[in-house]
Amino acid sequence: MRAALADEAATIEFARQIWRALPEALDGWTLLLRGELGAGKSTFARALIHAAGHTGAVPSPTYTLVEPYELSGTTIYHVDLYRIADEEELRYLGWKELDHGFRLVEWPERAPGLMQAADLELTLSYDGDGRTAELAGLSERGRALVRALCKTDS
Ligand SMILES: Nc1ncnc2c1ncn2[C@@H]1O[C@H](COP(=O)(O)OP(=O)(O)OP(=O)(O)O)[C@@H](O)[C@H]1O
Ligand SMILES: [Mg+2]
Repeated sequence: MRAALADEAATIEFARQIWRALPEALDGWTLLLRGELGAGKSTFARALIHAAGHTGAVPSPTYTLVEPYELSGTTIYHVDLYRIADEEELRYLGWKELDHGFRLVEWPERAPGLMQAADLELTLSYDGDGRTAELAGLSERGRALVRALCKTDS
């Protein structure tokens, strides 16, 4: 599924749309956020976390690696692997301990093994002054969600 995001507000609205399409039981879901520096990954993550009901700030997890958000239905883990040099370091991150929550991962290419466990992959690219978003389902339930989104879209 492809979407043209003309400005930051469009990225925020797109995140809200995806949040509405996600099931209530989000535990164990993983969404990978790809795209070069400044493509809008954190903008998208922040909007999704706010759509999920968080009202405070959403600081960048670049240095902490993980920022958890305890929300009514689930815990969202906002993860940024930019500073991860190799996959081994993920052990220190305690990745396994994030199993019960919803993982939102910036720079997932730092940990190629993540692909197997992921449900959705959002790729943001520069497109003039705006961005283009490409959403792909990686798991069965992820593909079903993308199909459902395509239907509501048309
Ligand atoms: N659709 C859009 N069109 C134009 N600008 C956008 C769009 N979405 C987000 N931006 C802007 O792009 C800039 C960078 O956004 P953001 O920090 O979210 O990127 P990022 O991918 O997380 O970057 P990094 O890789 O450095 O963490 C921000 O100024 C944001 O307002
Ligand atoms: Mg970022």
